[in-house]
Amino acid sequence: MSATAPVPTLLEAIDVTRTYTLGRDVQVPALRGVTFRVDHGDSVAIIGSSGSGKSTLLNLLGALDRPTTGEVLYDGRDVQDRSDAELAQLRNQRIGFVFQSFHLLPRLTAVDNVVLPLVYRPGSARDRRERAIAALESVGLGDRLDHRPTELSGGQQQRVAMARALVTEPALILADEPTGNLDTTTGDEIMSLLEQLHQERGTALVVITHEAEIAERADRRIELRDGVIVGGDLDMVEAGST
Ligand SMILES: Nc1ncnc2c1ncn2[C@@H]1O[C@H](COP(=O)(O)OP(=O)(O)O)[C@@H](O)[C@H]1O
Ligand SMILES: [Mg+2]
Repeated sequence: MSATAPVPTLLEAIDVTRTYTLGRDVQVPALRGVTFRVDHGDSVAIIGSSGSGKSTLLNLLGALDRPTTGEVLYDGRDVQDRSDAELAQLRNQRIGFVFQSFHLLPRLTAVDNVVLPLVYRPGSARDRRERAIAALESVGLGDRLDHRPTELSGGQQQRVAMARALVTEPALILADEPTGNLDTTTGDEIMSLLEQLHQERGTALVVITHEAEIAERADRRIELRDGVIVGGDLDMVEAGST
């Protein structure tokens, strides 16, 4: 499909729709046909007002959900053709997630939260702990290893979430309004860390944001409205669907 693309394609969404069913007969068409490509090393901002379908799209890109119609291809293979176990493995091995509300486990220390994605990996418990510590050090939290989420500030909790996302060395980080619960200064620090990860390790980055300033810093932008792409760097979107 994009075998001639100069940069290898990481994932493609082709004419995806997602309709939620509420109760017995209320249909909510959250996405109404979106075509979109993410290359290795890409950086994309998804913008659009509340309810436009941004989180729905991110969940499909992250194989957290399946489209109602259309295809989401990872390495050229449709997620529909994969079992739940295969999708769990895909998420664990290729993708790091960062959410607005951090999604840390409250009873676990910072280091234990970061160890979690590694538990199904080969290697000793000690190796996993060392990798988690290195990830926390890389986000500036080497001195907060044994703190629980409630013992950390919002910005620090988001750093733990970032360490958890990057500890597996994913090809892609998906971030859903990662600065939405943070003050401007702290949000800037989180965005700088994400950009550093993108630039230094070549991790592809897809970030949903309300903030124009953050969107401007991405290599390209996609604007959603009412479940369709209405703007952004459309030439690159179309290039992905040839
Ligand atoms: N689980 C769900 N069940 C029903 N409707 C939903 C669900 N999740 C989202 N929606 C609806 O789908 C639309 C898109 O939601 P969402 O993707 O969360 O938008 P955004 O992230 O851009 O704010 C909204 O109208 C929302 O109310
Ligand atoms: Mg959302």
